[in-house]
Amino acid sequence: MISHAPLSILLLNSPAPSRIDPFCAYLRSMPHVSITRADAVPQDLSRFHVIITDGDQKDGSPDAGIDGFVRHGGGWLCLGHGANQALPPVFGVRLSPLEPAAELRVTFAEADHPMAGRMPASFYSPGPYQSLLPAADDCMVIMYTDWHYQRMPVLTARTIDRGLVACTTLQCFDHPCFQQIAYRLLLFLARGIRTQFAAARSIGVGILGYAQSVGQLHGTGINTTDSMRLAAACDLSPERRARAKTDFPDIKLYESAVDMAGDPDVDLVIVATAPNTHAALAVQMMSLGRHVICEKPLALSRTETDAMLASSLKHGVHLSCHQNRRFDVDYRAVRQAVAEGLIGDLFYMETFVGGFAHPCGYWHSHQPVSGGTSYDWGGHYLDWIVSLIPDRIKSVTGTSHKRVWHDVTNADQERIHLLFAGGQEAEFMHSDIAAVRKPKWYLLGTQGAIVSAWRDVSQYDIDPVLYFQEQPIPATEMPPELTAHRYHQSGNIVCQSLAMPRREHFLFYRNLADHLLTGEPLVAPLSDSMKVVAMLEAAQQSMQTGRPVEVVND
Ligand SMILES: NC(=O)c1ccc[n+]([C@@H]2O[C@H](COP(=O)([O-])OP(=O)(O)OC[C@H]3O[C@@H](n4cnc5c(N)ncnc54)[C@H](O)[C@@H]3O)[C@@H](O)[C@H]2O)c1
Repeated sequence: MISHAPLSILLLNSPAPSRIDPFCAYLRSMPHVSITRADAVPQDLSRFHVIITDGDQKDGSPDAGIDGFVRHGGGWLCLGHGANQALPPVFGVRLSPLEPAAELRVTFAEADHPMAGRMPASFYSPGPYQSLLPAADDCMVIMYTDWHYQRMPVLTARTIDRGLVACTTLQCFDHPCFQQIAYRLLLFLARGIRTQFAAARSIGVGILGYAQSVGQLHGTGINTTDSMRLAAACDLSPERRARAKTDFPDIKLYESAVDMAGDPDVDLVIVATAPNTHAALAVQMMSLGRHVICEKPLALSRTETDAMLASSLKHGVHLSCHQNRRFDVDYRAVRQAVAEGLIGDLFYMETFVGGFAHPCGYWHSHQPVSGGTSYDWGGHYLDWIVSLIPDRIKSVTGTSHKRVWHDVTNADQERIHLLFAGGQEAEFMHSDIAAVRKPKWYLLGTQGAIVSAWRDVSQYDIDPVLYFQEQPIPATEMPPELTAHRYHQSGNIVCQSLAMPRREHFLFYRNLADHLLTGEPLVAPLSDSMKVVAMLEAAQQSMQTGRPVEVVND
């Protein structure tokens, strides 16, 4: 694993619970960040990089200890709020009167500000409006909000001797964009920490296995992400190498993985070969000092994932899995609804993929290479399940049917049942012999339920000879409709459609670059992908023995 420089924060005047707790939880999710809460300025501030003060300073003047800390190179972030708050003059700004709450559109003063890398051009911040009116010439405005047809500062910074101070009136402490920006601001204030918001050079990526399914996706995703660039592709097959060169003419081509890993332009390798080769190739790439993103499923067994983790720790390189479907809009809608408590406590869920169709004749249907029927989609569905129910898994039960498609080695249908430490249950079923599909999502909570309906959509093109061409969109690529059913005290069940987030592309790569360059949390951590493989392996074992397998992630 790569390690990021420690960031030690002193949080003053903010006894828990406080409005900034969601932001503190975000900071604490990064192992290199530590937060110490205190009511008074400690005598010794030397172990801190930044001080955060939340709210009013008693008389508007800074404590002598904080003043000295800043002048000697420390950072100070003031979270401003309140009608009568006086900001210490050191910030070089005055607060405007407090106005009613609104949804404020917030933008960076300069789109190419180093802190803006891979961030959206603007975001909406709910909360009361209050701006920061510059009172010193050297006050830097970092972010503005629109207010009554004017751009008004809401995040400012200023250099004080060897240190930096910053102030913001934004108050959306649970907003993902705010959290990311405020964390980057803390890194900026903590001058002692070498930050790499904008990498000195972009992260060079090599694709190992120019897979027909994901080769172009990876290349395009990388090239559209700030501070990343596709440098090379490697494939045993000359046709696949030629395909890579057609798609990305500027890249270098390699026949051997070792040769590609030796290219100084390649910092990170994406392993996109068949699953039974993931572990050995990933370990080989890491032993040559390259960061690795491995396609899903991470590997076929726990022994393999343990060896991969050991290698990343030994060589100090990044390893995680391409869990791109963590960014699917239906999953994100479900996750948000559950997190917001829309259905109460989630205690039961079923998920499904499949239909009644002949399996493909490729390795995907050959068990020794694929791992088995559930390894393909299970690599995504089980990842969704472990993120929605993060508890320890108590037992895994797998069942399997081989009744129709005897020309392939994968089973026709596999079902995995999980029992969690808190008593919750979850199921994933992949069936190639289900003439009627179950819903993709079926979740029960203590106050309601979420269920989805598949959307079978076709695209029609005008054809001069045949009048029209019909192209069905695969059901797995079409977000299903999601409905929440909630119990109301009147005894009625009330239904509502779930809000779908806006579909954005290549968020996986954005999150990866954020993590590598600034230490921001990975949306899909390696530990979850390892848990998925442990469940898949335990399910296969259970299918063979006919008995549940106890505790797989102790
Ligand atoms: N994340 C997703 O949404 C998603 C979608 C589809 C496939 N996948 C994953 O992508 C991977 C590839 O799937 P695919 O169906 O495209 O496979 P594929 O077999 O079509 O492609 C794999 C490529 O790797 C090459 N290769 C194999 N061993 C090699 C080696 N040692 N050195 C260099 N090249 C080598 C092969 O020649 C082939 O071109 C699988 O792990 C699959 O599960 C992920």
